[in-house]
Amino acid sequence: MLNNFIIIISLLSSLPSPSSSFNLTQYLIDDPSHSYTVASSECHSLRIDAEIDTDSPVTLFVPDDAAFADAAGYKTLPVANKYFTWQCHMISGYFTSSFLSQNAKVWHSQYTVGTEIMGDNKFMLNITVTPNGSVEVSNTVVRAIVTRTIFNEDPIAVYGVSKVLLPRDLPHIPSHVSVPVAAAATTVWDFFTVLVFFLVLWTPTDDAVKDLYHKMLQSL
Ligand SMILES: *[C@@H]1O[C@H](CO)[C@@H](O)[C@H](O)[C@H]1NC(C)=O
Ligand SMILES: *[C@@H]1O[C@H](CO)[C@@H](O)[C@H](O)[C@H]1NC(C)=O
Ligand SMILES: *[C@@H]1O[C@H](CO)[C@@H](O)[C@H](O)[C@H]1NC(C)=O
Repeated sequence: MLNNFIIIISLLSSLPSPSSSFNLTQYLIDDPSHSYTVASSECHSLRIDAEIDTDSPVTLFVPDDAAFADAAGYKTLPVANKYFTWQCHMISGYFTSSFLSQNAKVWHSQYTVGTEIMGDNKFMLNITVTPNGSVEVSNTVVRAIVTRTIFNEDPIAVYGVSKVLLPRDLPHIPSHVSVPVAAAATTVWDFFTVLVFFLVLWTPTDDAVKDLYHKMLQSL
């Protein structure tokens, strides 16, 4: 099993490092509305900013401060579930605002990065256009309105939304697993869990790594 650790560690360190030209935390701080203070600090401490790179198309819905103030359930989540909640606010695709509203008239359900990670049809977002023309983004429990465009430059779009789209049932992630801060883990098992979680989150499209991950699970 130690060999596997070494393979994983070297895989992790050989992952392409995200481009430095896009810093989500900084864009949230700089937004003229000054409404994303909580989001920018969460985004930084959960390292969401470090994972978004300018090579992969992504659309991100970011709740504003009022939304976080309203979301008591979010504050008490273990860090791993907070991280996962952010993945449920992201779509792997570049949706310009016109595409967002045009598309919303035809296709409602969109896979989020959370859906891709879990590999089932859960954690989807429903995007629709309200009668007054606003774009509504909802999951099975929460409805949010898109209130502004924070960033829009191919292939990244970031929109402000009025609610935290907290999913009804988050996957069970042991509360002692600190993601993505692997160094905090103490026992070998903790360390292993963190690494596996890391792999699933970071490389959902990399088949080679996925294979290795499945082989490792079988070898346990
Ligand atoms: C992004 O910006 C924040 C706020 O200025 C800064 O603390 C952080 O180090 C930056 N991240 C990267 C990856 O440059
Ligand atoms: C999507 O949202 C609209 C408007 O709230 C609703 O009418 C529709 O049933 C929802 N669709 C799904 C698949 O949840
Ligand atoms: C449009 O309607 C939604 C409710 O359906 C509301 O939350 C939103 O504030 C309205 N937008 C505008 C610009 O009036």
